[in-house]
Amino acid sequence: MAFYVTTPIYYVNGEPHLGHAYSTIAADILARHHRQRGEDVFFLTGTDEFGEPVAQQAEREGVTPRELGDRLAPRFKEMAAKVNASNDFFIRTTDEGHQRRVQEVVQRVYDNGHVYEGMYEGWYCPRCADFKTEAEIEDGNRCPIHKIELTREKEKNWFFRLSAFQEELEKLYAERPSFVEPGFRRNEALAFVRQGLQDVSLSRRRLKWGVPVPWDTDQVIYVWFDALLNYYTALSYARDGEDLTPLFWPAFHILAKDILKFHAVYWPAFLMAAGIEVPKGMFIHGFLLMEGHKMSKSLGNVLDPDQVIEMFGADALRYYCFREVSFGRDGQISPQGFEARYETELANEYGNLANRSLSMIGRYRDGVVPSADPEAELASAFEGVVERVRGLLDESELTHALDEIWKLVRRLNQYVEETAPWKLAKDETDSERLDSVLYGLAEGLRVTTLLLHAYMPDTTGRLLDALAEPDRGLPEFGSRGGGQILAELDPLFPKLQKAQ
Ligand code: MSP
Repeated sequence: MAFYVTTPIYYVNGEPHLGHAYSTIAADILARHHRQRGEDVFFLTGTDEFGEPVAQQAEREGVTPRELGDRLAPRFKEMAAKVNASNDFFIRTTDEGHQRRVQEVVQRVYDNGHVYEGMYEGWYCPRCADFKTEAEIEDGNRCPIHKIELTREKEKNWFFRLSAFQEELEKLYAERPSFVEPGFRRNEALAFVRQGLQDVSLSRRRLKWGVPVPWDTDQVIYVWFDALLNYYTALSYARDGEDLTPLFWPAFHILAKDILKFHAVYWPAFLMAAGIEVPKGMFIHGFLLMEGHKMSKSLGNVLDPDQVIEMFGADALRYYCFREVSFGRDGQISPQGFEARYETELANEYGNLANRSLSMIGRYRDGVVPSADPEAELASAFEGVVERVRGLLDESELTHALDEIWKLVRRLNQYVEETAPWKLAKDETDSERLDSVLYGLAEGLRVTTLLLHAYMPDTTGRLLDALAEPDRGLPEFGSRGGGQILAELDPLFPKLQKAQ
């Protein structure tokens, strides 16, 4: 089995913020989970460097777009590394390999008869690099997303015959209900298709910063088509001398609702026009909000991932984002929320469970996991849980899957309280029961931790090492007998430095 997952490629028109990190972490959790299943995984992220959003920012800063990209692309690359993303490649749309392949595909679409020359006029948002319909425009002529003034644009360019794909798109949606998840986003996309599709510009004449149209080098390819194609082009040149396309295509995309139309409508139509298989599917998530507003550079209300990581660590950030905000919905985040979950859930519930369990096995059994059968009441809490988590993650339900796992953490804590091993340890006649309880705790902790591994790779890795568990695959409760010698474990989630 192969699994190919992508994030949006981010515009290099500002520093990365937590909103970007969020999509990257989501895709990473899926990538890591599929690796745990033993699948062949390819995980792609990167930067979108052409087009107006970047050209305009460069102009404001008095640098060339290339210089801006060269400065900011490494920042996005670092951001991915800092949040512990395990991406297999980092694409920059300015890569030679990307541009070459984009031209090839666009040429194919042209040769297949889906491109013509025409005149476009409409309200345009340079930040979105997109024209807005009358219905979308706010307060006279403002962008509904960026709240900036739209400009009236008119120019001759090449058009992609999107309208010709209406029926095929409707068919795709009918045949593959899970093509766009969650369902309410699928309905939005379908409604957009059903209201009637208009052809869209495939090129720009005024702008010079882009991939040249192969048959008309006076024009550059409209940034959205060049950008969407990154998902396809990367596979052709990410590995020297090897084309990964046959192994990994089609992709599964993670993105937010702001770019739904491009991914759910333009992109499959464009692939159909090129004769390329459409994506496997996509999951559309919501926005991280700060005090009620989308966290975004243009609104200036962004959290810097570096700062958050410095304070809480990358794993806590990864955990918090998916626990606090139901994946798929918009949700508020705040430094106070971080702190609260860090202390109550990560440090007190999970961290303490780990340290307590290890230290009891240390104290009562010299640090060796007893060989015993688990008690039925504990074993039953784990029944079917791995399948449930797998099933939820098949639907990219990152929050629901995490909720399932967290129930195990709570069940284990409750089990410690119910069985009170410190009491059992006082009476030699309870020795066998204590073996069962301690085995159950070690096994429960192992299974829970392996399930959490995709979410919090570092801390869980440390705990698994302490549990003498070298394997990182998906677990099964009761599949490991006792006898392992446990190691020391420093607190997984140390006390926060309050002064910050
Ligand atoms: N370059 C285009 C995408 C091209 S993909 C072929 C673009 N770039 S962007 O830099 O604006 O990034 C948009 C994406 O960043 C969103 O779709 C989302 O995945 C992520 N997010 C940016 N801000 C976000 C939040 N406040 N909350 C959640 N995700 C956010 O659009």
